[in-house]
Amino acid sequence: MSDELQGRAAHIAAIRERAEAEMKAIGIDAAFIGTLVDTFYGRILAHPELGPVFDERLSGRWPEHMAKMKSFWSSVAFRNGAYGGKPVQAHLGVANMTPELFPKWLELFAATLDDIAPSPEAKAWFMATADRIARSLTLSLFYNPALDDPALKQA
Ligand code: HEM
Repeated sequence: MSDELQGRAAHIAAIRERAEAEMKAIGIDAAFIGTLVDTFYGRILAHPELGPVFDERLSGRWPEHMAKMKSFWSSVAFRNGAYGGKPVQAHLGVANMTPELFPKWLELFAATLDDIAPSPEAKAWFMATADRIARSLTLSLFYNPALDDPALKQA
């Protein structure tokens, strides 16, 4: 391996080690991510508005979705590259998806973390991350320049 490649590999390994140590310090490990995803999507399915939207799209594919969401969260938490999908594309064309569902998703995620998060810092980390992604997804999926005219806001 060239010096440059070796240097890059060492840099990536250092980023992963640091991320893992930071997560461990607030109680987040791979086992917790598994429990969080299982618990959260169990509650999503039981939610009167969110449940049907997810189930319609994922009927027959739930095991794959759960595995994907576990790699997604471990990728974000541990910087381990476990997830390589395209979240915006995945949400395109989900039937009955509306911007109003996002605050409900976040509320349910917060309530789930209140019940099972290993520490207040762990809840804060998951919420800050989910909030950022939810905002970015909402903009990508629903942003309409015609409704974003500053003149309308002054009225
Ligand atoms: C109202 C809010 C949301 C709804 C209704 C929703 C619904 C869905 C559905 C139905 C899928 C499966 C798509 C498919 O495989 O055909 C999906 C995938 C996914 N969602 Fe969401 N979602 C929401 C919010 C979020 C948020 C806030 C995040 C991140 C924190 C997120 C992250 C993902 C990821 C990573 C995938 C997998 C994408 C892939 O296939 O690679 N979603 N979502």
